[in-house]
This record gives sequence, C-alpha cells and structure tokens, in this order.
Amino acid sequence: MKKYFINGGKKLQGSIKVNSAKNSVLPIIAACILNKDITVIKNAPMLDDVIVICDVLRSLGADISVDREQKVIKIDTRELFQCEPPSEMIRKMRASFLIMGPMIARFGGFKISLPGGCNIGTRPIDLHLKGFKALGAEVNPQFGVVEARAEKLKGNRVYLDFPSVGATENIMMAAVLADGETVIENAAEEPEIEDLANFLRTMGAKIIGAGTGTIVIEGVKKLKGVEYTPMFDRIEAGTFMVAAAITRSKIKLENVNEKHIKSMTAKLAEMGIGITSGEDYIIVEASEELKPIDIKTMPYPGFPTDMQAQIMALLTTVTGTSIITETIFENRFMHVNELTRMGANIKIDGRNAIIEGIESLSGCEVKATDLRAGAALILAGLVAEGSTTIVDIYHIQRGYEEIEKKLQGVGADINIIDV
Ligand code: EPZ
Repeated sequence: MKKYFINGGKKLQGSIKVNSAKNSVLPIIAACILNKDITVIKNAPMLDDVIVICDVLRSLGADISVDREQKVIKIDTRELFQCEPPSEMIRKMRASFLIMGPMIARFGGFKISLPGGCNIGTRPIDLHLKGFKALGAEVNPQFGVVEARAEKLKGNRVYLDFPSVGATENIMMAAVLADGETVIENAAEEPEIEDLANFLRTMGAKIIGAGTGTIVIEGVKKLKGVEYTPMFDRIEAGTFMVAAAITRSKIKLENVNEKHIKSMTAKLAEMGIGITSGEDYIIVEASEELKPIDIKTMPYPGFPTDMQAQIMALLTTVTGTSIITETIFENRFMHVNELTRMGANIKIDGRNAIIEGIESLSGCEVKATDLRAGAALILAGLVAEGSTTIVDIYHIQRGYEEIEKKLQGVGADINIIDV
C-alpha cells in the first residue's frame, strides 16, 4: 500500500510552480462534448480525477490522447454516442455529472447514474435538475439514474437557491446551444466559472457576466475546437501557502494571480504572515509568532471551503483560540480526528471547530479521509515532531499532482513508500 512518509521539522525555501486548476479542467473537458471537433488542453494537471473524466468521455466514444510529459490532452469529440456511461465511473468521481448539461445540449436527451454523495456531504443535484427543467427538459430521477429529454433546449431565466458551482457550470454549458437567451441568477462566482466561460467563448459561445452573480448566455448553433490553457489552481496555491506558514518558512509560488486568492492572502496577513505578490507570483513568509484568527467558509469571493482543512492544520500550531465555521458542506471536519491523533486540541460544536494552538504536533500514522483533509495531514506532518505516515493517499492524488516532489523541491523530507 502506498503511503506518504514525512520527517517533520524542516524549513522550506525556494519556489514551486502551481499547476492548472483541477476544478477548471474537469468542466472544460466535459464542455468538449458541446463541439464536434478536436480540442487541445495545454498545461493540464495529470491528476487521477482528470484521467477519470477522460475515461468517461471515452466511454461515450471520444478519442482522447494524454501526453503526460508535455501535460497536453487532445480531445476528439467528432463522434460521440448517446449511451449511458458506466455508473461506477460517475459514482467514483462526482464531477463526471458535469457531462449531463453538454449531453442534453448535444443529443436532446441523456441518461446517467445519480452521482450520490461523498465523504464530505450528500452533495444533492436538485439545482442542476432545476436548471435543465427551466430550459425545457423533462427530467426524471428514479431508480438511481436520472434521465433528461428535450427536443431542443430553450433559453430561460433560472434562479439558483444556492450559488452552486456545479449547477452553474452544468446549466451554463446546457444553455450554450439552446434557442434564445438564458439568465442564471444567484450564479456561483468562482474563478473556475469564469475560466469555463472563457473557454466556451473561445469555442464561439456567447456568454457575459461569468464571475458575477448573473450570467447571460445567448444560444449559438455551433462551436469549434480550440487550444486552451486553464487558469492556475488556487487551492493548490493556497495549500502551498499554508506549507510555508506552518513551517514558518519563506517560499515563492509561480503561476499565481493574487486577484483570485484575496480571501486566503487576507486571512494569512491577519495572522501576521508576510505576503508580497507580482503579476504571476506570490511570496509567503512566516515568522515564528503568528496570531490566531476566526474563519468562516463562504461561496466565492469568501474564504473557500476547499482550504478549510489546510488552514485548520496551520491554526493547531498557533498559540491562542481560533474558530473555523464550515458553512458549505455538512461533514467536512473529518480531518479533525486525524489532527487530534497528532496532538491537536480541537473541539467541534456543530458547524464550528474551536482550535486551541499547541506547542507542537507529534508525528504518527494518520488516514486521509478525503482530498483536502489528506492535504491538511501532509501540512501537519511537515511540522510535527518525529515522522508521520499517511495512508489512503489515493484521496490526495486525485487533486494534487506529485505533491511530494513539489514539496521535496523546497526542502521538505517527504516520500512515497510502498509497504
Ligand atoms: C465544487 O463542487 C468543487 N468541485 C468542490 O471542490 C468545492 O468544494 C465546491 O464546488 C464548493 O466550492 C469541483 O469543482 C469539481 P457546489 P460542487 O455545487 O459543484 C449544495 C475539491 O476539493 N448544492 O457548489 O459539487 C451542496 O450540498 C472539491 O476540489 C445543493 O444543495 O459544489 C453544497 O452544500 C470538493 N444542490 C453546496 O451547494 C445542488 O444541486 C456547494 O455545492 C448542488 C449543490
């Protein structure tokens, strides 16, 4: 079994180049279904989740080549079948559900396994289905699958009761080939939505307002294949910012635009961490004495839920009381048990985690329970006394490409062992 093995206590220095965003590349690959052409994605992150969604498109007939060396994915969607992808693929990676909107737009109908929940929450899809219905599709979720039928989608107004990232993406993609205008209100504003809209516009779609709460899509008849480089991964960047902070080090992150990580840099600055940024980089420098803070996860531009576990690991090492409130997912504190095993002092009260900083964490064997919880354990291991072994690292490899190599590159003592 593969595990991460970390000897804590090493200071970090140097720079890390941040990858393109997993949460951009996944909807962008799904969006290739909308055109009968060849699309090339450059600087693509070679992640397990990216390979899974490529396999989903291959199961529909797409011809996809992945060049791991060059980090290029070539997607030929000229020939696709309107078949149901294997349910184990959809359940394995929930973001596969993002093919629903494009498939309805391309074929006028589609049947797919319900994605189901995951460790961090039930992850409902009611807002996705509300959007497809508003565009004129007949939607029928039952017996573990959902079928949608529509001769031709028609533009309409859709109000999202919650600014769901996935629902905004699925509805936006479905609307691109619909007749007429679609307005998505209370849309998610995450930068990955803007990146997807930029990709779609490059292919010929007509979209304005992505990145704001109101997105307007004018349907078009046809799209064309393009070459595209997705935006940087702001959560990978945030994870490495915390690596610098938790080890009280100074590192530079390249391929980063601070505009999209303001909530993270603001909160780290409140802790007394030095942040300087340039056009496409950021430098993070942390001294020994940091201040405790309170954090509430919110939809963008608020503090991202995908950084909650990582900042919690940092706060366990900061003297004083910090409170983290998780407002997005109902079960996203599973890293607390594992951090507690490392000596952290954390109490959970509903959606709040109360953290009392301690002198030092101690290394031991811990278990990754989900992607970002696993990342938090790596961060804790970097600073814990002694060595830390992390099991179930497949969770982490879904969203971080060779994280051990990137951290080795700045001086961390971390390796993958197979025992
Ligand atoms: C995306 O998931 C991200 N995944 C998640 O990142 C991220 O945590 C999440 O957005 C929030 O930012 C990808 O982009 C592939 P949501 P998504 O729909 O789209 C409720 C990671 O670590 N909701 O914005 O599934 C839902 O229950 C992953 O990289 C409904 O009620 O998130 C949740 O409470 C984890 N009905 C909230 O919205 C719906 O129809 C946020 O979900 C849809 C969502």
